[in-house]
Amino acid sequence: MVAPLKIGVAGLGTVGASLVTLLREQRALIAARCGRPIEVVAVTARSRAKKRGVDLKNIKWMSDPVALAKASGIDVFVELIGGGGGVAKAAIEAALSSDKSVVTANKALLAKHGVALAALAEKNRVALNYEAAVGGAIPIVKTLREGMAGNSFERIYGILNGTCNYILTRMEQEGLSFAECLKQAQALGYAEADPTFDVEGYDTAQKLAILASIAFGTKVSESAVYVEGISSIAPADLIAADELGYRIKLLGVAVKTPQGIEQRVHPTMVRKDAAIAQVMGVTNAVTIDAVGINPMTLVGPGAGGMATASAVASDIGDIARGVCGAPFGQPVAKLATVRKAPMQRHEGGYYIRLQARDKPGTAATIARRLAQQQISLESIVQRHPKGQPAAKSAKSDGSVPVILITYATSEDAVRKALAAVGRDRVISGRPQVIRIEKN
Ligand code: NDP
Ligand code: HSE
Repeated sequence: MVAPLKIGVAGLGTVGASLVTLLREQRALIAARCGRPIEVVAVTARSRAKKRGVDLKNIKWMSDPVALAKASGIDVFVELIGGGGGVAKAAIEAALSSDKSVVTANKALLAKHGVALAALAEKNRVALNYEAAVGGAIPIVKTLREGMAGNSFERIYGILNGTCNYILTRMEQEGLSFAECLKQAQALGYAEADPTFDVEGYDTAQKLAILASIAFGTKVSESAVYVEGISSIAPADLIAADELGYRIKLLGVAVKTPQGIEQRVHPTMVRKDAAIAQVMGVTNAVTIDAVGINPMTLVGPGAGGMATASAVASDIGDIARGVCGAPFGQPVAKLATVRKAPMQRHEGGYYIRLQARDKPGTAATIARRLAQQQISLESIVQRHPKGQPAAKSAKSDGSVPVILITYATSEDAVRKALAAVGRDRVISGRPQVIRIEKN
C-alpha cells in the first residue's frame, strides 16, 4: 500500500468545509485514480468553536496557518482562507519555502503576487496549483496549460464571476432589484467576503489576468486589466438589450491586438444566439479562440462550496500523481511584461442609451455628431419601454430614451461624439455606453 499524501487545510469556510467532506466521501475513488490515498491530517480556521457541518474527527487542529504550512507532518498545504496578502500569502510562502506543494483557490493573491509565488515554487521544485481560482469547477487552467499546450490563442473571453451572472440573470428574468439579487448570491455562498470585488468587476479581472498569463505567456498583472462593473446597469438596459436581440453579460476578455494583449472587463452586449449568451445564473463559461480550430466554450458551475472543492481535489490529485510543471505554463523568466489596455483605441460596436430632448432636430444633432467622428449607425430607436405609450415613458424633463447601436468604431470616437452631444444640450444625464463583443 502506497503511503497517503498528507494534507493540511487552512480555511474551513464555504470551500474548505466542502473539500474536507469531498475528500472523505471520495477517498477510495481518489486513491484508485491517483495511485495513493489523500488524507487531511491537520486543519486551521479562525474559530475552533464554530459549527461547520463537517466531520473533523481524527484531524489535528492548529491555530496558526503559517505553522500549519511548515508542519513536518504534511506534504501539501491547501490555502482556502482568501485575501490578496496577509496570512494567506505568509502561509503559502512558508509552505513553498519548506519544499511543500501548495494548492490554492485564491485568485486575489495570484493576481497580485502570482509571479513571485511561481518563482518561489520553481526555485524549490514544488507545485503551485490553482485550478479553483478561475471558473470554479471548470477545468480551464488545465485546458489552456496542458490540454492546449500546442495551440496559440487569439482571444479568451468568458463569464468568470458567478455572482454577477446570477444577478444579471435574475434581474433580466424576474425583474428583481440589483440589491435583492446580490443579497441572495451572498446567502448562497457565491459572493466574496466584500461583494464589491464581484460587482465592480475586480474578481473577474483577477481571474482574467491569470488566464491571460497562461494563454499569452504574460506576467499575471491585475493592474493591466481595464475594469468596469455591473452596478451601472439599469433595468432599462436589460429590456432594451432583449428587444434588440442581445443579452448583457459581465465578460472578461483577453485578446491579441496589433498593440499587444488587451485585457478588459466590462458589461458586454452579446447576441442572444451566441453560446455565451445561453449561460445563466451562477454558471461560468469560457470561450477559447485558438488559431486553426473553431472556438470552443467550456461551461460549468463557477462558485459554491462543492464546485470549488472539486477543482481543489483535482489539483491535489495531480500532486499525488507526481505532476509538477511551471504554474503559468512557462518558467517565470520567460513570461512577458504586459501593460494596461489603452481603451480609447478599443474597436468594436457600441450600444448607447441617451435621455434625449423630445424636440425636432434632436435626432439630427445626434446623427451629425456621430458622423463627424465617422461613426456609422446600425440602428437608432426612440425607445419607449414595451407596452408603454410615448407620453408615459417621457421623463418629467420631457426627455425620452433613445437607443443607438453603432457599427465597429473606436472608443475614442464614441467618447468624443457623446461629449459633443452633451455640449449641444440635447440630452440629459450621462449616456449609458455598453461595448458589443463579436461572437
Ligand atoms: P470563507 O470566508 O467562507 O472561508 C474563509 C475561511 O478562512 C474561514 O474558515 C475562516 O475561519 C478562515 N480564516 C480567515 N482568516 C483566517 C486566519 N487569519 N487564520 C485562519 N483561518 C482564517 O471563504 P470561501 O471558502 O468562500 O473562499 C476561500 C477561498 O476560495 C478564497 O480565496 C475565495 O476567493 C476562493 N474561492 C471561493 C469560491 C466560492 O464559491 N466561495 C469559488 C472560487 C474560489 P472561520 O470560519 O473560523 O471564520
Ligand atoms: N465570488 C466569486 C464568484 C466566487 O461569484 O464567481 C468564485 O470565484
